[in-house]
Amino acid sequence: MAEKNRCSFFLALVLISCCEGLIRAERAEEELKEKVPGLDVQRNIYNLTNYINDTLSSIQMEIRRKMTLTLDQLELAGVFPDHIRPKTCEKGMVLNSTYYPFSYAIIYPNQSMPMNITFPHLCDHVTDGGGWIVIQRRSTGEVNFTRGWNDYKHGFGSFRTNFWLGNEKIHQITTSGKYEIKITIKYNNTLYTADYRRFIVQNESWKYRLLVFGYRGTGTTGNAMYFHHQRYFSTFDSDNDSNYYLNCARENTGGWWFFSCYGSNLNGEWGAYGPKAARWNTLSLFGELQYTEMKIRKWGSLTITNSRNGRDQVNTT
Ligand SMILES: *[C@@H]1O[C@H](CO)[C@@H](O)[C@H](O)[C@H]1NC(C)=O
Ligand SMILES: *[C@@H]1O[C@H](CO)[C@@H](O)[C@H](O)[C@H]1NC(C)=O
Ligand SMILES: *[C@@H]1O[C@H](CO)[C@@H](O)[C@H](O)[C@H]1NC(C)=O
Ligand SMILES: *[C@@H]1O[C@H](CO)[C@@H](O)[C@H](O)[C@H]1NC(C)=O
Ligand SMILES: *[C@@H]1O[C@H](CO)[C@@H](O)[C@H](O)[C@H]1NC(C)=O
Ligand SMILES: *[C@@H]1O[C@H](CO)[C@@H](O)[C@H](O)[C@H]1NC(C)=O
Ligand SMILES: *[C@@H]1O[C@H](CO)[C@@H](O)[C@H](O)[C@H]1NC(C)=O
Ligand SMILES: *[C@@H]1O[C@H](CO)[C@@H](O)[C@H](O)[C@H]1NC(C)=O
Ligand SMILES: *[C@@H]1O[C@H](CO)[C@@H](O)[C@H](O)[C@H]1NC(C)=O
Repeated sequence: MAEKNRCSFFLALVLISCCEGLIRAERAEEELKEKVPGLDVQRNIYNLTNYINDTLSSIQMEIRRKMTLTLDQLELAGVFPDHIRPKTCEKGMVLNSTYYPFSYAIIYPNQSMPMNITFPHLCDHVTDGGGWIVIQRRSTGEVNFTRGWNDYKHGFGSFRTNFWLGNEKIHQITTSGKYEIKITIKYNNTLYTADYRRFIVQNESWKYRLLVFGYRGTGTTGNAMYFHHQRYFSTFDSDNDSNYYLNCARENTGGWWFFSCYGSNLNGEWGAYGPKAARWNTLSLFGELQYTEMKIRKWGSLTITNSRNGRDQVNTT
């Protein structure tokens, strides 16, 4: 079915290209007639044949070039008409796959509308009712995740391959309401998920401290994230872990809410084996992960109360 959609999409592209080609050929014929009015019919036809042949060859080349672009590149290039693109990432959203043949959607918020999330983000509109904002995704080693504080703050990578959305954005989203998180890991050719009912990333002056609780795992995934509950974010150039002897981020690669050092580190080096690897300790102590994804979804509004010591307490219900 997806193949069929893809085909009809390309067919439409080809048809558009051909019509353009015919119009171009007609124009060229007129130009040619103006340029060489005195020629005899035979020469004219000969000239015209050559011209049409050249034009057709260049159109064919253009079509071949277009066919080699992936759907993702076409989407990123803005080929899809605006009314087909989703405007927000919400639970219960429905996208017609005939027109929008992607597993995930890239949301480009309309800047002239008052919206809470103003930056582009990747949306899983399929899993479990959709509405999941993807904050991390890895499937290959083509993006290096061993980066400094500023890169983790602002985000890096590409939505269609590997990326980190950025701590500042994650902070803004997760403090605008109650957010749950779904972590998906592929290991030994099996997909594992870990769900947490609450996921909050605090502000930069609090070193993007993590609050994560309410674990609901499937099968044997294991609760390897709770270990990082209430820990500060660290990168090799900003050591906020509680290990007196080590700089965990330098020792283990990536940026994470390291403690002493970790129970998971999904931002570790892709393809590494051992302490430096991207890993989820309850599944594999050595890494060997084949796919990772972290995505968040809103399920309620936020209530914040001031406690006696003046620090904000986030409602944990
Ligand atoms: C087309 O016609 C022009 C003008 O007569 C001539 O100079 C040119 O060589 C012709 N081109 C071909 C490919 O025959
Ligand atoms: C048309 O162009 C192609 C490629 O440029 C060439 O191989 C072919 O011989 C041409 N045909 C005629 C009829 O000129
Ligand atoms: C998608 O659009 C096509 C064409 O308008 C329509 O036939 C089909 O029922 C739609 N699918 C869904 C799931 O709405
Ligand atoms: C953005 O929103 C404004 C105001 O609602 C609307 O006029 C405009 O057409 C929208 N732009 C796009 C690209 O959807
Ligand atoms: C990733 O970047 C870090 C920091 O620049 C560098 O030390 C490391 O060798 C890079 N890793 C790979 C696999 O290229
Ligand atoms: C936008 O943010 C406000 C305040 O943080 C919140 O009350 C509201 O529910 C949010 N709207 C959406 C659509 O998330
Ligand atoms: C990997 O999967 C295979 C096939 O399901 C299973 O036999 C094997 O025990 C698994 N290995 C690990 C380390 O989980
Ligand atoms: C950062 O968050 C803490 C805890 O919620 C809060 O007390 C502090 O005022 C915040 N700082 C800034 C600059 O927003
Ligand atoms: C975080 O790391 C920076 C730079 O190493 C340091 O100045 C700061 O005190 C650390 N903060 C915490 C909470 O550990």
